[in-house]
Amino acid sequence: MCGIIAYLGEKPAYPILMKGLYRLEYRGYDSAGIAILNKELTVIKTRGKVSELEHFINGKNLHGTIGIAHTRWATHGEPNDVNAHPHYSQSKNLAIIHNGIIENYGTLRKELIHRGYEFRSNTDTETLIHLIEDIQIKEGVELVEAVRIALNQVIGAYAIVIISKNDPDMLIAARKSSPLVVGIGEGEFFLASDATPLIEHTKDVVYLEDEELAIIRRGHELKIKTIKNKEKTPYIQKMELNLSALEKGGYEHFMLKEIFEQPRSIKDSMRGRLNVKKGTVKLGGITEYEQKLVNARRVIMVACGTSWHAALVGEYIFEDLARIPVEVEYASEFRYRHPILNEDDVVIAISQSGETADTMAAIELARDKGATIIGICNVVGSSIARATDAGSYTHAGPEIGVASTKAFTAQITILLLMALTIAEKKGTISRLRYQEILTELEQIPEKVTETLKVNDQVKFIANLYKDSRNALYLGRGYNFPVALEGALKLKEISYIHAEGYPAAEMKHGPIALIDEEMPVIFIATNKGTYEKVLINIEEVKTRKAKIIAIVTEHDERVAELADHVIEIPETEEMLVPLLATIPLQLLSYHIATMRGCNVDQPRNLAKSVTVE
Ligand code: G6P
Repeated sequence: MCGIIAYLGEKPAYPILMKGLYRLEYRGYDSAGIAILNKELTVIKTRGKVSELEHFINGKNLHGTIGIAHTRWATHGEPNDVNAHPHYSQSKNLAIIHNGIIENYGTLRKELIHRGYEFRSNTDTETLIHLIEDIQIKEGVELVEAVRIALNQVIGAYAIVIISKNDPDMLIAARKSSPLVVGIGEGEFFLASDATPLIEHTKDVVYLEDEELAIIRRGHELKIKTIKNKEKTPYIQKMELNLSALEKGGYEHFMLKEIFEQPRSIKDSMRGRLNVKKGTVKLGGITEYEQKLVNARRVIMVACGTSWHAALVGEYIFEDLARIPVEVEYASEFRYRHPILNEDDVVIAISQSGETADTMAAIELARDKGATIIGICNVVGSSIARATDAGSYTHAGPEIGVASTKAFTAQITILLLMALTIAEKKGTISRLRYQEILTELEQIPEKVTETLKVNDQVKFIANLYKDSRNALYLGRGYNFPVALEGALKLKEISYIHAEGYPAAEMKHGPIALIDEEMPVIFIATNKGTYEKVLINIEEVKTRKAKIIAIVTEHDERVAELADHVIEIPETEEMLVPLLATIPLQLLSYHIATMRGCNVDQPRNLAKSVTVE
């Protein structure tokens, strides 16, 4: 969702804010804006990407050592110049940037209009800044107090930063359900939606908690209080991120870099956890909750998007290895569905960003019902990581491309390690089998490297199908979620309509779509329901579709039927998703780039969805 960056210090704010916006642009990119205070409080904003803002600003005098900036993913009000942030208050003495949604903005707006306020935009955010100014005037209170009072009247989610023309030495920030981190440098402060824009400047960060206000004053220490007016001591943490993880490292796009990083990211997910020699798996973060998992009557996995697909793979793994019934739920459905939950249930929340609003709400619901909650997150210190009872980080490193790639394979890796831990404790796996899977898992990074060698072949195939209007992805068993994920990747970045389906279910509907124009991508590896999938391939071939098949190396039977086969190394059935996903990621990447799409920032999408 939107990206927020703010600066107060001794250096010129503009270059810091602009660079920060580029770093945060993956969060939203339909409009951007900046406000700098230097006697005057100047706001410049425009529809479009950060580069358009930079172009627009070019030459304008933006000096000053304090400022706020924003890159937007529109919720209320279409993406245009007026709705872009920052928003001025009525007097133009204040300006605000906001990430989240003020749910009761309609009522507040009506009241403010009634009291004579004129709105320039259609955003919920403008309501908040008018409300703050109204309280300031009406109650005659300091700005900090006005912000605090206003936030007590607000329903919804917010990360905000406010700048005031009358106080060039202060920034006020607050958060609820949308992330905000304060960076503390030598005589300077930063505020940002995540730690990525802070990395060149400082390693000392404070993650704000829900309903906390940060008061940043030049020459003073960071002050934090709650919106109920309780003082808090800032908890300063050391950020563990390095700059190279945030740059493209010679690749044309972050997405391609992240696809090619998977041998390393999978290895990092297992590092210090998997020990084949000793025959052990240790997930430090869940040690205290292992017994809960062993005794769980049921595991419910909640997630959205690609993480939901990883959960589906997890369902198969958990049921196979640990013999625990698993339900996989879209977090957005689960939260409104009156789910039956009790204390013997374990909820596993999976999220790359650790900020997805629906997943967060599902966690809150599960907590109210007394279930144990385990998190699988990639972003360290994220809201979901902090809201769960225990959890394991995926350690895949920052994922910047909006379409998730390496986070998916890392999530599956953690689910495997988790299921193996429980299976071993529960006695649902023999020692021999356990050791076999561990040994094979250790080989996976190398096999991913081997799989990535199909890149040129996939590029060639992509060129043949780049103009398709539809595509169908089919798989069974462990390969069914892989089919879903393959289809999602193509939709997200190439805008080609694609469906993922269980291969046998195809004949109950999607088969009607098949003709000679339709590429059908089968994931047809050599284990599980392989023989059955061959029959499904025949059914499709009879209807003259073009068949692209992901197969196990040396496969000959699929090759007789398919137009193209892409080989992946032999592995355990449950590890196939870690390899079979890779050619599908590459296929969508190449098709999208050939179609001239912006793969790292596809239209209408955002990397972290902090609104419902
Ligand atoms: C957005 C992203 C997807 C992601 C989903 C869930 O839609 O564009 O790539 O899979 O959110 O995000 P999470 O951070 O919870 O995994």
